[in-house]
Amino acid sequence: MSVGIDDMAIYVPKLYIDSKDFAKARGIDPHKLENGIGMKQMAIVDTNQDPACMAANACLTLMQKNDLKPKDIGRMYVATESALDESKAMNSFVIGMLEQIYGEGSFEHAGGIECKFACVSGSYALYDNANWIRAEENNGHAAIVIVSDIAKYDLGSAGEYTQGAGAIAMLVKENPRLVVFDPKVTSTIIKNEYDFYRPFGRETPLVNGNYSNYLYLIQVKKAFDSYKEKVLKTGLIRINNDESITDKIDYFSVHIPYRKMGEKALAYLLRHEWRHLKRWKQIIEEVGFEEPIAKDPRGTIESILADEDFMKSDEKFRRAFIKTSFFKQVFEQKMLSSLEASAIIGNLYTASMYMGLRSLLEFEYKKNIDLTNKRIGFGSYGSGSSAMVFSGVIQEEYKEIVKDMDLGSEIGNRTKLDMTEYKRLHSNELKINESFSDHKKEFVLVKIGGNTADKAGKRDYLFCN
Ligand code: HMG
Repeated sequence: MSVGIDDMAIYVPKLYIDSKDFAKARGIDPHKLENGIGMKQMAIVDTNQDPACMAANACLTLMQKNDLKPKDIGRMYVATESALDESKAMNSFVIGMLEQIYGEGSFEHAGGIECKFACVSGSYALYDNANWIRAEENNGHAAIVIVSDIAKYDLGSAGEYTQGAGAIAMLVKENPRLVVFDPKVTSTIIKNEYDFYRPFGRETPLVNGNYSNYLYLIQVKKAFDSYKEKVLKTGLIRINNDESITDKIDYFSVHIPYRKMGEKALAYLLRHEWRHLKRWKQIIEEVGFEEPIAKDPRGTIESILADEDFMKSDEKFRRAFIKTSFFKQVFEQKMLSSLEASAIIGNLYTASMYMGLRSLLEFEYKKNIDLTNKRIGFGSYGSGSSAMVFSGVIQEEYKEIVKDMDLGSEIGNRTKLDMTEYKRLHSNELKINESFSDHKKEFVLVKIGGNTADKAGKRDYLFCN
């Protein structure tokens, strides 16, 4: 049975900060943000927005553009790491908002949960719902998986220039028009780690930035090794001598905490995949020096980070490697389009990789490339930490959907915040009704907390006509 993503809809908040203003305010070289990180603009939520209303807005768009009724949907999952409640799941807030449009009780027949595992949980949610359909438990219904997050870091921290916000709703069904997931090859890895986490009560995470970068690379590669074993065993991908399975994957879509990280992830993967192939000799000639080897053959993150000499020479090698014609060709052909959206929106945590997929489809289509039957390899990462690698094939009907994708018009006119406004928003100094932008045809938050103690934390939302 073919199961996968039939369509997707995005919601991006209408406020943003610009990298030049940010660089000036923080005394950072703007080239570092634009080139070193890959950030031009970061989306910021308004006073009257939260992850639940962004999720509901993306979901409503998805339902309206596909003329879906609640009776068509059997499950709704929301994957997020910006939970609003320790108990009440975010999808229940979303259902409450959607029922303002579709009528009270209209989703009663459906089910679903909120999923958490940092940025990777959206991929687990898609996998679970695809399997629900494959197991024919769905009784003809489709599922909706929504990924929604606000990436917010401490003011003045190195994480602050990797913020962002947004939501994506994906329709998961049989015989989908966009992407069919490859069966029996999804691979995961999991380990107790503290690279990035947000203890109860904190609005911003505790981050070990450099460690998180390396852990991401190592974990995705380990999940990829397991994926590789499965695709060769199942015969999904066949390779000849002197080939890597990366040669047979047409596109790469990975978790994108910031644009540059996508490039780093691809470089890390290709170095491991290519170093035993004939082409490596020519690559080394282009690089101009040999690839450094870590002293500790175990290659654990701890052993690598402890080996300072290796780290320095390895960074030097990576910078030279990404300039080689071999890497550039693969990067430009197989990944670049997926990174376009990230530069103007920022990190969306659970939604980042799916905004990357959305970006890949739109910008490759705009190059007039025929995407039918092209295989996308996904590298999903969540701190804490878990990685999931899986793949899917673009369907013939993709054009019906992708022809209408236009990031610029879908994001719409945005309001640029000055750094004083941004700081007041970030510090939660403003009240819900002191919003910066007009909200039309979307859900907003109007009140938190009822008039009595037993209604503390209750959230009221309204659809603005
Ligand atoms: P940093 O201190 O800015 O790092 O932290 P840096 O000083 O190494 O600079 C970054 C890049 O800018 C480097 O490029 C510099 O060379 C370059 P690279 O060598 O790596 O290619 N640079 C310049 N380029 C041009 N002109 C200049 C210049 N100066 C320097 N003048 C870091 C960066 C990402 C660590 C920080 O922003 C951070 O902590 N972010 C949050 C954590 C994060 O995003 N981690 C990513 C991996 S973990 C993950 O993805 C999971 C996550 O999404 C959470 C979840 O799962 O829920 C975060």
